[in-house]
Amino acid sequence: MATQEQCQVLDQTQVGPRYFKLTLKSLYISTNAEPGQFVNVRVDSGTEPLLRRPISLHKINREDQTFELLYEVLGQGTELLSKVIIGSKLDVLGPLGSGFKFDPEKKIAILVGGGMGVAPLLPLAQQLKTLGGRAVYALAGARDKSCLLCETDFAELANEKVVATDDGSHGRRGYVSDLLLDLLNNTVEARHYPQTTIYACGPKGMLKAVAEIALQRQIDCQVSLEEKMACGVGACLGCAVMTTGGYKTVCKDGPVFNAREISW
Ligand SMILES: Cc1cc2nc3c(=O)[nH]c(=O)nc-3n(C[C@H](O)[C@H](O)[C@H](O)COP(=O)(O)OP(=O)(O)OC[C@H]3O[C@@H](n4cnc5c(N)ncnc54)[C@H](O)[C@@H]3O)c2cc1C
Ligand code: FES
Repeated sequence: MATQEQCQVLDQTQVGPRYFKLTLKSLYISTNAEPGQFVNVRVDSGTEPLLRRPISLHKINREDQTFELLYEVLGQGTELLSKVIIGSKLDVLGPLGSGFKFDPEKKIAILVGGGMGVAPLLPLAQQLKTLGGRAVYALAGARDKSCLLCETDFAELANEKVVATDDGSHGRRGYVSDLLLDLLNNTVEARHYPQTTIYACGPKGMLKAVAEIALQRQIDCQVSLEEKMACGVGACLGCAVMTTGGYKTVCKDGPVFNAREISW
């Protein structure tokens, strides 16, 4: 169940050229949110922009009753969000959507994040660490060094962390899907595939490549999709995607789907 709440802004920090971290206070959202879910934020009290903006839950801190968002300034909505000051209140609807699933039989988790796609994978890494009994590999890719996020956080939470940049300015040169192939060819052997889950979030092209790798090897794969949204609660069908079971909404049925379900 989601709530609509005026959440106090506890912190707003710029963490990169166009990247910001926003910390908000909410007992309800911090208590009820699960990794992979998101909040729909009204970035301005006026009518421009009219629509809320969906942002993934990046950190969920139940003890402090806070949650954190990591976002990139792309257009009007996120620009306004970046101007929100500490101490003010933001109108937030959440937690929304269906997040990542955990299968106790799966002892290996491979997290694959492209660009801002790392945002929802961090609380997942935290939860997997808390659950214990699993080997967690974190693979992160970005255009260049300045766009690579959360490297230190993943180093703390995962058993192994590997990064790649398209231009080779940090980590390996290439795509994050190349890192996945490497890991599957050299570390997680085929006999472990039945106990492995791949969790991926990032641009559609990257998700398609990851899904193909997983499907070829029959590895369980969950992907977090992004679509432009309006209502955020399954009412307007504006975010519908075609699946093997017909159209489904990213905001309510997702954003996390089994990669097999998606008509890529
Ligand atoms: C479930 C979900 C979780 C998300 N989590 C995060 C997050 O954690 N951090 C983050 O930075 N962003 C996240 N996004 C994307 C974020 O919602 C958009 O970047 C934001 O709405 C852009 O609003 P804007 O007004 O700044 O830009 P707009 O003016 O609306 O658009 C600017 C540019 O961004 C593109 N764009 C806008 N929305 C999307 C989208 N949903 N997917 C792909 N391209 C888009 C537009 O096509 C346009 O080129 C998420 C989206 C979804 C659906
Ligand atoms: S945004 Fe309205 S149904 Fe998803």
